[in-house]
Amino acid sequence: MKKTGKFITFEGGEGAGKSTVIQAVKTYLIEKGYDVIVTREPGGTPIAEQIREVILSVDNIAMAAKTEVLLYAAARAQHLAEFVEPQLAQGKIVLCDRFVDSSLVYQAYARDLGFDVVYELNSYAIGTCWPQATILLDVEPKIGLARVFNSEEREVNRLDQESYEFHMRVYEGYHDLAKRFSDRFVIVDANQHLDAVIEQTQQVITKVIEHVE
Ligand code: TYD
Repeated sequence: MKKTGKFITFEGGEGAGKSTVIQAVKTYLIEKGYDVIVTREPGGTPIAEQIREVILSVDNIAMAAKTEVLLYAAARAQHLAEFVEPQLAQGKIVLCDRFVDSSLVYQAYARDLGFDVVYELNSYAIGTCWPQATILLDVEPKIGLARVFNSEEREVNRLDQESYEFHMRVYEGYHDLAKRFSDRFVIVDANQHLDAVIEQTQQVITKVIEHVE
């Protein structure tokens, strides 16, 4: 399928403020006249949302790391085929809350499955539909986790309950990916107050949209 829209993904550790920032960026871009749609992973379509429930349920503490990585990739393949690719074909800007870099960071680095295997099986799931740009909301685990646990709205999921060392590996993994894929990664300092994070992201997003083809 020919891709005419722009596929931009957002990444970051727990409590980076991704969902709030993405909604603010969506409003900002719509006001500027862009045709924008927001989605998320794991999920984004009914089948992928069902897979999400299995992955994130606090009852599934026994899930093997290999099962987890395959389920994320399965949800991703479905999300792309059923939602993202058709939206891009219509020329939309698709903003996606987490994508393949979450698997590379959480499953490859933090769960220690290894970069190559996670990259290969996700390459199969993704085909040619890689994001043109990835915005990393870069937050230190101490600050991000404090936000998560102090928030009344946000449900705590199975992955929030991982150890501090796990979140530290996620943080370092993202920095490594930003270097490895420096052509598409843009880093935003998400340790600041959320309003400042939103403002900085709005500043970079216009440049990103004008730059990517
Ligand atoms: P979610 O509640 O959407 O968290 P957040 O608001 O932080 O995005 O839960 C998604 C969780 O799934 C999050 O902890 C990161 C994890 N995840 C992976 O481990 N691998 C993946 O490929 C994806 C997409 C998410």
